Amino acid sequence: MTDISVIGLGAMGSALARAQLKVGRSVTVWNRTPEKAAALVSEGAIAATTVSEALSASPVTITCVKSHPQTIELLTNAANALPSKTIIELSTGGAEEAENLARLLENAGAKWVLGIINAYPHMIGDGETVLSVVGTDEQWETLGPIIKAMGGSSVHVGDQAGMLAALFAGLFTVRQGFMWGMIYGALAAKKAGIPMQTFSDLVPISMGMMKPYYDYFAATAPQATYDDPPATMRTYAAALEDVLASFEALGARDELPRLFVEMAQKGMDEGLEDKALTAVIDVLADKH
Ligand SMILES: NC(=O)c1ccc[n+]([C@@H]2O[C@H](COP(=O)([O-])OP(=O)(O)OC[C@H]3O[C@@H](n4cnc5c(N)ncnc54)[C@H](OP(=O)(O)O)[C@@H]3O)[C@@H](O)[C@H]2O)c1
Repeated sequence: MTDISVIGLGAMGSALARAQLKVGRSVTVWNRTPEKAAALVSEGAIAATTVSEALSASPVTITCVKSHPQTIELLTNAANALPSKTIIELSTGGAEEAENLARLLENAGAKWVLGIINAYPHMIGDGETVLSVVGTDEQWETLGPIIKAMGGSSVHVGDQAGMLAALFAGLFTVRQGFMWGMIYGALAAKKAGIPMQTFSDLVPISMGMMKPYYDYFAATAPQATYDDPPATMRTYAAALEDVLASFEALGARDELPRLFVEMAQKGMDEGLEDKALTAVIDVLADKH
């Protein structure tokens, strides 16, 4: 028996196995292409010849292959070895497939934790690295040391398998919001003849205003308390109207600023003009 098994030894799975070896756990490994196990075996891991053998070798198995469907296929074909085992699935995947995997494991008498890795393989094992994990509180408490050996700043998000895909969609939307903001911002600057270097040098200075916004977001959105904001929705709506007018005056494409105006108007229409702009979250949520 070993402490932990790792199924899938690509760039990420190998890094995960190595992180467990590094903190002194005994590790069994399996990969579809067996040659990829050689390096880890030379570092002290034991190679299993089948998925069933890998599952049987340890109480806890980390899976990290292409995506959830591949994990489902591998585990379905080794279902005899699943009862009483715990699977930590770290392949990236969609919400529905995550739920299917969780049901498969529950029906087979296994426990599960699912995670997304917010890092490149060379960052695995660092104190600042974050794996965002879903599973029961009990699983998080039990498996915390194993997960934190791979990402020291890992976080427990909730207990529903499908939450991770929504979390990814949410965080990617934030990043894309920034990137598309840069694109439309650069468009306005270019149309106005402002040097791109001047624009890009001023972006980080302008973004310095975002730190208080994170704090403000955290102080309002989780509790849905939107009173007494430093800037009201009315103020934002007026500024957004001005921005849209500037795009129009420049003859620039204005899809993004127009969307902002429409969204702020939804909050205004609900009578929230004296509230924080973040109150729009609840307006949008109630529409679905
Ligand atoms: N690399 C990153 O920076 C990174 C970051 C965050 C998350 N991830 C996630 O980690 C997971 C693995 O990524 P990776 O970078 O390690 O990819 P990779 O280097 O391409 O390795 C893919 C692994 O999946 C295995 N695999 C693929 N299809 C399979 C199948 N049908 N049956 C059995 N095994 C199969 C491969 O086996 P073979 O060796 O036999 O082909 C290999 O072990 C992905 O879900 C990815 O999104 C990766």
